[in-house]
Amino acid sequence: MTAKNPYPIMTAEEAVLNISDGDMVAFSGFTSAGSAKVIPKALADRAREHHDMGLHYKLKVLTGASTSAAIDKDLAEADAISWRAPYQSDKAIRNLINQEEVEYVEVHLSHLPQAVSSGFLGKVNVAVIEASEVTADGRVYLTTSIGASPTFLRCADKVIIEVNRHHSPRLREMADIRIMPPPPRRYPIHIFEPMMRIGWPYALVDPEKIVAIVETDQPDDEMGFATPDDISKQIAGHVIEFLLGEMSAAQHPNSMFPLQAGVGNVANAVLSGLGAHPDIPPFYMYSEVFQNAMVELMMEGKLLGASAASLTVTREKLKAITDDMDFFAPRIVLRPQEISNHPGIIRRLGVIALNTAIEVDLYGNANSSHLYGTHSINGIGGSGEFTRNSYLSFLMTPSIAKEGKISAIVPMCPHIDNNEHSVQIVVTEQGLADLRGLGPTHRAQVLIEKCAHPMYKDYLRKYVRDSGKGHIRHDLTRCYELHRNLMEHGTMLPEA
Ligand code: COA
Repeated sequence: MTAKNPYPIMTAEEAVLNISDGDMVAFSGFTSAGSAKVIPKALADRAREHHDMGLHYKLKVLTGASTSAAIDKDLAEADAISWRAPYQSDKAIRNLINQEEVEYVEVHLSHLPQAVSSGFLGKVNVAVIEASEVTADGRVYLTTSIGASPTFLRCADKVIIEVNRHHSPRLREMADIRIMPPPPRRYPIHIFEPMMRIGWPYALVDPEKIVAIVETDQPDDEMGFATPDDISKQIAGHVIEFLLGEMSAAQHPNSMFPLQAGVGNVANAVLSGLGAHPDIPPFYMYSEVFQNAMVELMMEGKLLGASAASLTVTREKLKAITDDMDFFAPRIVLRPQEISNHPGIIRRLGVIALNTAIEVDLYGNANSSHLYGTHSINGIGGSGEFTRNSYLSFLMTPSIAKEGKISAIVPMCPHIDNNEHSVQIVVTEQGLADLRGLGPTHRAQVLIEKCAHPMYKDYLRKYVRDSGKGHIRHDLTRCYELHRNLMEHGTMLPEA
């Protein structure tokens, strides 16, 4: 923001007067990276003031993916959210969703920009976007994430920009922004290698829509990454052994295909394990989040380049990146989520996808989002588009949870995010089940023998044996017995 820019500069408290009860507000950010910082807090205060006066004040909240505590915790705790999409990962809003206080709409992340542009989710009244600069002619330089911000800027009636001095302006060197034209006039997306660039370093906004600039100087929320535990390391070991086997059998030639890794400690452990293994050649990533383990891998020359929608790293790692932009900027591309998670590009590049599930059933249907089929944890996020469209897709989970009271391999999942037609390879610390080319009964056998925890194997074998014959064996009177036991007795196998 330079002195000649025409936009009104105001405090967050003044800016939020532009946001009314019932508005749909679209916040920048993909994870907490690049999320709006001060407007959500001012909105929480505004909501409390309204509630204290007995007035209604709730907003519909859109983000790129999960977001910062300022939105899904502070705003949720102020009872200021009535509706939320497309993904969340915060305990405060999760509780409200599960109490049916907040209506939650999960959307595949690459679908979100088109859903917003087409008006499927309703009118976006206000976009609140973090940027390092906005020019008088409407170029908006985003910060640590791109996500859906270019679409929000285009579709919102009013725009508030948080100009955040904390971020290095050089982050724009990583941005590659292009908005797809609406169907049916779409053209091929010219990304034939993970690092290809097709757009511009800025998003565009109609300057007339900018109602406020709020200046800030705050880092993104600190991301927590635990040191990989033994279970994560064992899962990583199985994945690496399998990939090495595929490479030596020339199933995929010479170099590794680009990798995608879901957020979390298991994915981080797998990436670290791949990086440390001498026989895994240097590789690229075509993923949605650039996360901590990738910084080291890049410095070691193991990760040659990465495409993502956000830089979701600890402050220490972000400093390492911005202190050496000459090295990192040519190696990282930050894209809109419509492109980072685009099914066609994922398929074209032959991505190898590594995501996490909470449970997998005997036929390969996987639940990543709803405990007991009823209670939301986070959401499907980008796992659907990567699991379905990748060249190889892995779903990983510890074989048991809560000291064995819960098995991750169950007869039937009470909620399914990725179904048997998409899921190829399931990995637990017990082993790896390659389900490709296997019919249902064969799948069940391999999943039990390779992935189930020993304490559940007999139950699962008996379930299959005793179920009536069919293309897919099930006993509808018993398929949720483990889940019912868990809810009634606090453990899936009460007699054990
Ligand atoms: N039934 C009941 N509870 C279970 C369970 C099951 N089958 N499996 C795990 N849990 C519990 C765990 O014990 C833990 O409880 P706690 O918080 O009290 O400790 C909680 O559920 C979370 O399990 P955990 O193993 O710690 O999860 P995680 O942090 O590894 O995350 C997902 C796993 C599936 C929730 C997470 O990866 C996710 O949200 N995925 C969907 C979105 C996605 O894949 N995004 C990336 C795509 S690009």
